[in-house]
Amino acid sequence: MNAHNSRARAHANLALVKYFGKRDLALNLPAAGSLSLTLKPLTTTTHIAFEGGIEKDVVKVNGALAEPRFSARVSRFLDIVRGMAGSDYRASVETRNDFPTAAGLASSASGFAALALASTDALGLCLDEAALSALARRGSGSAARSITGGISVWRRGESTDGSDSFARTIAEPKEWDLRVVVGVTDPGAKKVGSTEAMERTRETSPYYNEWIRSAEHDLEEATDAVNERDFMRLGEITERSALAMHAAAIAARPGIVYWNGATLEAFHAIRALRENGLEVYFTCDAGPQPKVLTLPENVVAVEEMLMATPGVTRTIRCELGEGARLISE
Ligand code: PMV
Repeated sequence: MNAHNSRARAHANLALVKYFGKRDLALNLPAAGSLSLTLKPLTTTTHIAFEGGIEKDVVKVNGALAEPRFSARVSRFLDIVRGMAGSDYRASVETRNDFPTAAGLASSASGFAALALASTDALGLCLDEAALSALARRGSGSAARSITGGISVWRRGESTDGSDSFARTIAEPKEWDLRVVVGVTDPGAKKVGSTEAMERTRETSPYYNEWIRSAEHDLEEATDAVNERDFMRLGEITERSALAMHAAAIAARPGIVYWNGATLEAFHAIRALRENGLEVYFTCDAGPQPKVLTLPENVVAVEEMLMATPGVTRTIRCELGEGARLISE
């Protein structure tokens, strides 16, 4: 391998306190902080090779040429890295997700985290974790939280240049054995992209300001719950943060409804399990997949419940994973 090649790996992450609203669109600065779990096995592996003499960046996802819109987004991100490194080399990028992309699970977080690490390494830049997280954020806000492992907090930051808006780990994977079970449902109506949804919600939802206020409060409380290893409190905040985020989006004009029937059935089934004494809490992102936060002893019961929910086609078991890293093979 010459000096301009690099390969990196990063996991997806799941927000328990959601990020949904930007204070700066161009820099992907959040209007409120968020808290997330970095999840294995959901993994993206990205190889990048910068070369002089090639005309444009070439981007492949799972072996096939990426759609033009996604390629352009990757190129814009690489322009930032090239600017930092003083290079005008174009790149060939090959990225692979080991989780089903058709399942509607967000791969932009793991994707831009792996790309941030691989591209900076390949151009000889050596960034610390905070700077890498702030850089990954430029590709996709939530990617800031896939640079870090375990349980992470991404603060909104105060500076206009975004230099203080990055994620950091507040608990390592071995410090708390949290589990997540993802329910994969048949994709419903075409989803609205997260940036478009956030902007529409900010501009038109009567609940947006209240949502942002509650998110900052939820972040403080969730951080305390993590520090105290208070699972019930963390679970309650997880559910209410997801519901408040979706309520704000549903109230936008026109309203954005990410759920399908299976999503809602799963929410009710999770609450029924909880009434039977199991510590299980749901959350959901910009898509129809219900995701369940739980403890190791409840994973099998959660999987059985999800598979018994009409419309859920499969489940994926996850646990806390480490942050983005370079790999040599
Ligand atoms: O960073 P984006 O554009 O993928 O936005 C992520 C938004 C949510 O997944 C809905 C919430 C979150 O905090 O991950």
